[in-house]
Amino acid sequence: MTRKRVLSGMRPTGRLHLGHLFGALDNWRTLQETYECFFFVADWHALTTEYAEPSKIKEYTTEVVLDWLAAGLDPRKATFFVQSRLPEHAELHLLFSMFTPLAWLERVPTYKEQQEQITDKDLHTYGFLGYPLLQSADILIYKAHYVPVGVDQVPHVELTREVARRFNFLYRDVLVEPEALLTEFPKIPGTDGRKMSKSYNNAIFLADTADEIAAKIKPMITDPARKRRNDPGNPEVCPVYDLHKVFTPQHERDGVVVPGCTSAGIGCLDCKQILLKYALPVLGPVSERRAKLAQDPDAVQAILDDGTARARRVAQVTLGEAKAAMQI
Ligand code: TRP
Ligand code: SF4
Repeated sequence: MTRKRVLSGMRPTGRLHLGHLFGALDNWRTLQETYECFFFVADWHALTTEYAEPSKIKEYTTEVVLDWLAAGLDPRKATFFVQSRLPEHAELHLLFSMFTPLAWLERVPTYKEQQEQITDKDLHTYGFLGYPLLQSADILIYKAHYVPVGVDQVPHVELTREVARRFNFLYRDVLVEPEALLTEFPKIPGTDGRKMSKSYNNAIFLADTADEIAAKIKPMITDPARKRRNDPGNPEVCPVYDLHKVFTPQHERDGVVVPGCTSAGIGCLDCKQILLKYALPVLGPVSERRAKLAQDPDAVQAILDDGTARARRVAQVTLGEAKAAMQI
């Protein structure tokens, strides 16, 4: 019996942080046990928005792959590659562009939203309009059954299904309609209480050492009403407690953290110490693994070379079938 296939990608926008770890990466690590998984860095997709300043894309591509491996994604179980090393995706994207109605792309919600929200870049380009169609080619070229993504990406998977249906209707049954696997992202606040994000300067990165993590947690924002040590606090409005929810076992939260906070029995520094007691044994080894891998770029390159070769074998078959069906 062959396993169902999973495919997902990430744009190389910088080092990954806890938001990625407890959203996408944990999920991918589980999926790699059951499915035939393909995970890739979408560097062409980064270029659709960073075309004027592309200098970081290559560096970030390596950072992302290091973060994946450090987080426990395993090249013996899953296939890792970089999009731009597989021009097959671009060729299939071109073929798709021949029969995809412009209106399908113009009505994808991320298209207008991003054009309006991102004001420091001109996104009125052909490539940006085609972003979700390139994503469709990424997915369909592997005949993926499942695509784990966040809710913002669901319209892109929907478009992918429509493209597959149109292809199969116009030519013949070649492509597989994929399903989105909705990834849940637990609430991970940054050290300032806002959503964790590289651009807010409030992130804890997978690359951070145990000492760096402790130094970021100690000054972290807590319940703003708890000004003095004797004031009782409310964990439900405290960003430190959101981190306890992902690291600290329930019995310790219910037995020590919550009663200690609400009665002012423990101070915020004590509370952060408890958090570190549980977080560091998880995160310390991640940054150690990452540092070790970073010292061996050849090994990482070999993983990507091997992944590229494996991906290419699949991509070439689908591309060949698509071309034959389109009589070209
Ligand atoms: N657009 C996705 C994102 O920004 C990245 C991506 C590109 C992707 N191609 C993909 C995700 C194919 C899933 C499948 O997150
Ligand atoms: Fe937050 Fe803990 Fe301080 Fe309560 S004791 S406010 S949960 S850091």
